[in-house]
Amino acid sequence: MQTLTITRPDDWHLHLRDGAALASTVSDVSVNFARGMVMPNLSPPIVNTAQAQVYREKILAARPPDSDWQPLMTLYLTDNTAAEEITRAQASGFIHGVKYYPAGATTNSDAGVSHIGKASKVLERMQEIGMPLQIHGEVTDPDIDIFDRETVFIDRILMRLVKRFPELKIIVEHITTSNAVEFVTNSDKNISATITPQHLLFNRNHLLAGGIRPHFYCLPVLKRSTHQQALIDAATSGDSRFFLGTDSAPHTRASKESACGCAGCYSHHAAIQLYAEVFARADALDKLEGFASHFGADFYNLPRNSSKITLRRQAWQLPQASRLGNEEMTPLYAGETLQWQAENDAD
Ligand code: NCD
Ligand code: ZN
Repeated sequence: MQTLTITRPDDWHLHLRDGAALASTVSDVSVNFARGMVMPNLSPPIVNTAQAQVYREKILAARPPDSDWQPLMTLYLTDNTAAEEITRAQASGFIHGVKYYPAGATTNSDAGVSHIGKASKVLERMQEIGMPLQIHGEVTDPDIDIFDRETVFIDRILMRLVKRFPELKIIVEHITTSNAVEFVTNSDKNISATITPQHLLFNRNHLLAGGIRPHFYCLPVLKRSTHQQALIDAATSGDSRFFLGTDSAPHTRASKESACGCAGCYSHHAAIQLYAEVFARADALDKLEGFASHFGADFYNLPRNSSKITLRRQAWQLPQASRLGNEEMTPLYAGETLQWQAENDAD
């Protein structure tokens, strides 16, 4: 296969940041994608509908001329979120989810939920009105090994949550383990998961063997290759509960190349091309369109896109650097060669 035309994809989990960064991040995402679920972990976080509206306007204003790329907004769940806020968010028409960060689990998550029991009323309301819950599925207990934090979260928190709210729509974000794949596979249709390009292309050897490589550091952290293979199998299976969410998370080069480097990989310099690489290597390019362009929209009850993009088999070298406002960052797989280009790249 030399070319592949698919419905224009959507990204169901990404970080655009704020301020000067927006011009760079929004212009990158709008090249090949139609819509993106914009994570609310700004500082301070986006905790209500009014803040989401202001943030959305800024994002829309940062789009390149003629772009019709659409931001989909989500609220940051805290111990103080009120059930009424969920109803307001639903009524806004532009908020499509609520994001649950266990407090302290990742970048800008300090204001997250200290104990999920505190959110019972909110979760009840979400279940009732069909508002999806997007979960960063890691425990934060310092006694739990960082490589086990997702699995322990599933066992201790997620299983109980699903029992207590059996109709709640849940997206387990950026899954990294065979345990998470199994959990979703054995669940009902209201449970789904997003998968990032870094967790499909790499494992913890890429991060740690032969030297520490901070640009592969994200949360949840890369796991061993058997988990990577389970994710590849899930993404390329055609099971509609697994869909695209890049978790593209920009950080300046200086903040990652540091004694205490930030968590997050930037992938919107080449997101669909990175996924195409995975699907091509797995001989499953025929499954890319469902994963990238259909299943997420279906899960969120949004229409599928009508426009298309074309991928072409032609080797190209990824840039060494991307802009992040007035600074530079090192994007995922910088300087390496990919086999697939998107139509827009050749313009
Ligand atoms: C994300 C970020 O930088 O905002 N970092 C990451 O490692 N993925 C936050 C997140 O989604 O966990
Ligand atoms: Zn994220």
